[in-house]
Amino acid sequence: MSNNLLKGKRGIIFGALDENSIAWKVAEQCFAEGATFTLSNAPVALRMGAIRELAAKCETVVIPADATSEDDLEKLFAESMEVLGGKIDFVLHSIGMSPNVRKKRHYTDLNYDFFLKTLDVSAVSFHKVMQTALRMDAMNEWGSILALSYIAAQRSFPSYNDMADAKALLESIARSFGYHFGKQKKVRVNTISQSPTPTTAGTGVSGFDKFLAYADKMSPLGNASADDCARYCVVMFSDLTRMVTMQNLFHDGGFSFTGVSEEVMDLL
Ligand SMILES: NC(=O)c1ccc[n+]([C@@H]2O[C@H](COP(=O)([O-])OP(=O)(O)OC[C@H]3O[C@@H](n4cnc5c(N)ncnc54)[C@H](O)[C@@H]3O)[C@@H](O)[C@H]2O)c1
Repeated sequence: MSNNLLKGKRGIIFGALDENSIAWKVAEQCFAEGATFTLSNAPVALRMGAIRELAAKCETVVIPADATSEDDLEKLFAESMEVLGGKIDFVLHSIGMSPNVRKKRHYTDLNYDFFLKTLDVSAVSFHKVMQTALRMDAMNEWGSILALSYIAAQRSFPSYNDMADAKALLESIARSFGYHFGKQKKVRVNTISQSPTPTTAGTGVSGFDKFLAYADKMSPLGNASADDCARYCVVMFSDLTRMVTMQNLFHDGGFSFTGVSEEVMDLL
């Protein structure tokens, strides 16, 4: 159902790989709410994924960008403003990747080149996106920038590996950059801490199915789906949330504030 919550707004959505991606659902919902936006992903993902299908559905274009490359990001913002006909109102950073997770390196036996890559792709890229946007004066006042996080930033989830450190950095960057973007341009910056969700990145975490089932049983409302997350992103991009900034917003069915649930107790 459309309420035209984003009518007249222009955006950039990073990270739609396939129809399971959270960014894919966000793009669909933003389109339904009247936004115009460009889609972006790493060049390699463009070859593997189905993003062009999504672009056709959302009547838009795909602009390749490795989010760790400042040159790519500058081109992306310039082309997006040209295609969309003006400055940007919202950005979704839905990007995560850990070579240590991919190569199954244990957290106590990390490869440090991989570790730096994890941090660059999954967290520092968020800083690069914002620094590029600020330098180019590419954001409209009262714009909204979001990244997706996970509660391993606050609590230990052993199998989440070095992505936990990346998420802690990501959330810190949202606070630190949020201050400056707010002061200078009235742009808000937040992270949404989402329930485990069955996507390519999610299922890469070892023991993901158990992880998903545990979170579901621990959450009074159950796990939040990718579609639920997309609806929350729409609200955060809309004018209904203009004064919310520098926050990490839990979107997890209550998981983050539940000590233990009856369902989990019953299993013991
Ligand atoms: N799936 C979950 O359980 C879950 C839970 C909480 C938060 N998140 C976060 O949500 C975000 C989206 O992940 P997802 O679950 O939709 O999985 P996904 O695999 O569909 O999306 C991850 C995206 O990151 C992109 N990417 C990787 N390296 C890149 C680079 N160098 N430049 C640009 N893009 C790059 C990939 O191509 C992919 O599109 C991530 O930040 C992830 O950590 C996921």
